[in-house]
Amino acid sequence: DWIMGDYVNEAVARIREQVGDEEVILGLSGGVDSSVAAALIHRAIGDQLTCVFVDHGLLRLNEGQMVMDMFVGQLHAKVIHVDASEQFLGHLKGVSDPEQKRKIIGREFVEVFKAEAGKLKGAGAKGAKWLAQGTIYPDVIESGGAKTKKAVTIKSHHNVGGLPEQLGLKLLEPLRELFKDEVRELGLALGLPEAMVYRHPFPGPGLGVRILGEVKKEYATLLQRADAIFIEELRNTIDPATGKTWYQLTSQAFTVFLPVKSVGVMGDGRTYDYVVALRAVQTSDFMTADWAELPYALLKKVSGRIINEVRGINRVTYDVSSKPPATIEWE
Ligand code: XMP
Repeated sequence: DWIMGDYVNEAVARIREQVGDEEVILGLSGGVDSSVAAALIHRAIGDQLTCVFVDHGLLRLNEGQMVMDMFVGQLHAKVIHVDASEQFLGHLKGVSDPEQKRKIIGREFVEVFKAEAGKLKGAGAKGAKWLAQGTIYPDVIESGGAKTKKAVTIKSHHNVGGLPEQLGLKLLEPLRELFKDEVRELGLALGLPEAMVYRHPFPGPGLGVRILGEVKKEYATLLQRADAIFIEELRNTIDPATGKTWYQLTSQAFTVFLPVKSVGVMGDGRTYDYVVALRAVQTSDFMTADWAELPYALLKKVSGRIINEVRGINRVTYDVSSKPPATIEWE
C-alpha cells in the first residue's frame, strides 16, 4: 500500500545517506529478517551490497538454491554462496548433546562468516566498511535485557553479537524499528514473494537440532525429503472453514528425524527403517504452544507419501505434545 511505499522510499534515502559510496556486507540466512534487509539495502545501493550466504548443509530441501534463485536470479544481488556443509558435518561428528551441537554450529558459522567478511573487507580501498544485520525491534528489546545476563540460559541461540566490532565494521540495521508484521509488509512492498515473507521460523542450527543425537549426512538427506513432503502438503491443503492453507493456520511445522529403526512390511519382506515425527504447532508468542489439530486426511496423505517416496523411512508419527511442558523443537 502507499504507506509502505513511502516507507520504502524513506528507508532507501536513509541507507544511501548513511552509507554513501561505501561497501556493505550482509549475512543472508534465508530467513525473513535477513531477506528483507538484503532486499531493502539492495534497492538502496545495488552492487555496493555483497551478501554472504553460509550454507551449513542443514537447511531444508533446495533451500540454498531457492535463496540463490531469488537474490541472484531475480533481484540480481551479489551473493557469495559458501557451501560449508562438509566442514560443519566434520565438526559435528560424534557429537550428540543438543547444546554442544548448537555451540559447534554457532561457532563454525561465525568462523566461516568472518573469513568471508575478512576477504571482502580487505579488498583494497574499496573494501567493505559496513556490516548489515536484519535486527528487528523485538531483538533490540531482547538484547537490551540480555545485557544484564539471564541467570539461566535455556537454549543458546546463535544470533551473533559483537561481530561488527570484531570485524572493525560499522553496523547497518535498517529494520531496527520495525515489528515482525511490518517487516513482512516491507518485504512484500519490495517484491519478495509471499511464500518467503510468511515463512515459518527456522532455527539457526537448522536440521542440526531436528536430527536427534548425532548428525549424519544420511539422516539429513532423509529428513530433508520427508520434511519437504510435509510442508508441501500443508501448503496445498486448504481448510474449508477459513479458506486458509494449513501452512498458514500453523505457526511452525516441521519434521523430526529419530535415529531408531522400527519394523515394517513391504511386499513379502520385512523392512527395518527409520522413524520420523511430524510437529505442527499454533502459538502467538512461541513461549507456549498447542499442537495443531491437523485433519486426519492430511496426516494420512503425508504419512503415505513419506513412506512411499522416502526409502529408508517406514514409520511416521504425529507429535501431540503442547508447550509447556514439551518444547516446540525436540532438542
Ligand atoms: P522451543 O523448542 O524452545 O522453541 O519451544 C521456541 C522457538 O525457538 C526456536 N529455536 C531456535 N531458534 N536457534 C534459533 O535460532 C536455536 O537454537 C533455537 N532453538 C529453538 C524454535 O524453532 C521455536 O520457534
